[in-house]
Amino acid sequence: MLEIVDQARKTFQERYGSPPAAYGVAPGRVEVLGNHTDYNGGYVMSAAIDRVTVVAVRKSDSARCCIFARQKDAEATFTLDSIQRDPYDHWADYVKGVVVELLKAGIPVEPFEAVVTGNVPIGAGVSSSASLEVATAMALLELHNAILPRWEIAKLCRRAENEFVGMPCGILDQFSSVFGEENSILFLDTRNEEHEAIALPAGSFALILIHSMAQHTLVSGDYATRHRECMEAAAWFRERLGTHIQLLRDVSWEDFIRWEAQMPEPHRRRARHVIGENRRVLEGRDALRHGDVARLGEMMYASHESSRIHYENSTPELDLLVELARQYGAIGARLTGAGWGGATINLVQEQQMEAFAQQVSAEYTRQTGIQPVVHRCHISQGARAFREYGGAT
Ligand code: GLA
Repeated sequence: MLEIVDQARKTFQERYGSPPAAYGVAPGRVEVLGNHTDYNGGYVMSAAIDRVTVVAVRKSDSARCCIFARQKDAEATFTLDSIQRDPYDHWADYVKGVVVELLKAGIPVEPFEAVVTGNVPIGAGVSSSASLEVATAMALLELHNAILPRWEIAKLCRRAENEFVGMPCGILDQFSSVFGEENSILFLDTRNEEHEAIALPAGSFALILIHSMAQHTLVSGDYATRHRECMEAAAWFRERLGTHIQLLRDVSWEDFIRWEAQMPEPHRRRARHVIGENRRVLEGRDALRHGDVARLGEMMYASHESSRIHYENSTPELDLLVELARQYGAIGARLTGAGWGGATINLVQEQQMEAFAQQVSAEYTRQTGIQPVVHRCHISQGARAFREYGGAT
């Protein structure tokens, strides 16, 4: 983490001639259970990982805001009175969206210069975009000596993505990036915002992310389609069960089974996944509370099956990775994040980790011709902000 902050400082100094005044650091996350449950008012389990986005900032002398993305070697500029989306600098929309929401929340953001850098893998389903949003919010709040409650920061970043970027995501990614706790898996009830950090039994388990390196479709379009189908499925139940049904979270498994045969497709399949997945998350949470990691692993495999069959957001490559994970002894494995490509998350015994990663990679490459990328994820703390020592704002 310190290396990335140093990198941000150095790049800032080179680019703008003096050091930054403040930094925001925010991790990516893995989704452990609860696939596409968040925007349905449901439950999720996740963990922040030791891959971070760093945003270094300083107030600017000019009227323009200027953001430099180190990895992309690209710069975006804008003025605070006219913040527009830019199809050519899509990455900057996450920063701009957060600025718009901070202004709406009454934070008197002034023109600033920023450097963005980090080591969150992009397109791997570990939410590099939410980590950019959260790091931006943390850095700008610090720069302006402003404080917002952590929940407000997570929600503000989600609004930036929903309203400015135009992606109808739930709160999972932003929540995990803000609330991460070292060595603990987070549980969240997205309806009432109750959450809990449950410690993984120490030392003996590892979380491994395996990036399939295969993206099949335009994820944001598929995501919006699923979102719409879920809202329609909830409306279908509302007509039959009453106005207390706002989202699929409000439909019990028993009611679903009673009505299932009459539901149109694909809504039946989507509802089956979401309502069943909520049950799996609760079961996974209870298992982990009792230290029953094997049961949590079973829920992960079952979650993948449901995503594959009912939510139809898996890919042949992700299915193969999960199958190989089972074959080579993972306690649990599933796709993580939106799906339609990206990565699987694998829960394995620490001492088997090396052999597991090698075997799965080799067999995956043999069958697909694709070299996967393996990341060992350490479960880490959530977002933070700090000032450059002696730095001016
Ligand atoms: C993406 C979204 C999240 C969540 C997951 C799927 O990561 O940003 O809000 O919906 O997909 O569970």
